[in-house]
Amino acid sequence: MAVATKEMNAFIQELEMLRSGLEEKMNQTPGASLVERQFIKDLQGLKHDAAHDIRSGKYGTFNFGDRSIPPEKRFQVVTMLKALVYPETKVCDHVASRIPQLPDLDLKARASQQVIDEVKHARVLREMLTRWGEDPQEMYLEPLPEIEDVFNYVGSVETVEEFFTANFMCEGLFLPSHLQVMSELDPDAFGEYIESTVADEGSHVALARDVILRYATTPEARERCRRVATEVTELFIRGLQAKVKKLNSEDAESAPLIA
Ligand SMILES: [Fe+2]
Ligand SMILES: [Fe+2]
Repeated sequence: MAVATKEMNAFIQELEMLRSGLEEKMNQTPGASLVERQFIKDLQGLKHDAAHDIRSGKYGTFNFGDRSIPPEKRFQVVTMLKALVYPETKVCDHVASRIPQLPDLDLKARASQQVIDEVKHARVLREMLTRWGEDPQEMYLEPLPEIEDVFNYVGSVETVEEFFTANFMCEGLFLPSHLQVMSELDPDAFGEYIESTVADEGSHVALARDVILRYATTPEARERCRRVATEVTELFIRGLQAKVKKLNSEDAESAPLIA
């Protein structure tokens, strides 16, 4: 499904505004103490700095090949979609596995909704790849090791507030580093995937933030979360670099793919 660049960018800008409005509102969350609100602001600062570096091209830039060639015949587009199957599926499994750690029924319901959303995202990728005659399992069964590292780490953290701190960072970084770039560089190739994911991301970030506010209530818990935020941001960036490298790899020289 082709999506006009202008429309998609306007939508993403709208989401960015909604997100900053949400963050603004969150900074006045009733019941959260000043120190807890400041903690969230610190995490947002870390995230914004990383997003800024990524957007400036410090870690390389995605290249999706020659746009005059149909997307399903371009190695870069096909590889990007294949590379996303693992994260979309894993985040679903990970959030599901943390539901028993959330005693609050409202948060439990919102985490359940995220699981459903992530299944939908993974399904769209799989359907696109299958329609294009590609194997959607390829990079799910053999993900880039750097991407696997991110998920192994996130899966290993002990508490629910640490887990959602990792999600707060990664979900928040995914929009500017992936969805926005894909939309800017090739909205026709990625429109179907972006359309089905972008509207859900705000609620995933909001859920992560609310879990942090609810459970990271001691200096020790916040310190652990801060360490997770730093560590997972580094891993996220390494994953991004690996993806950029893969898209620019030797295989790309054999592009376009001939069906
Ligand atoms: Fe997703
Ligand atoms: Fe998400």
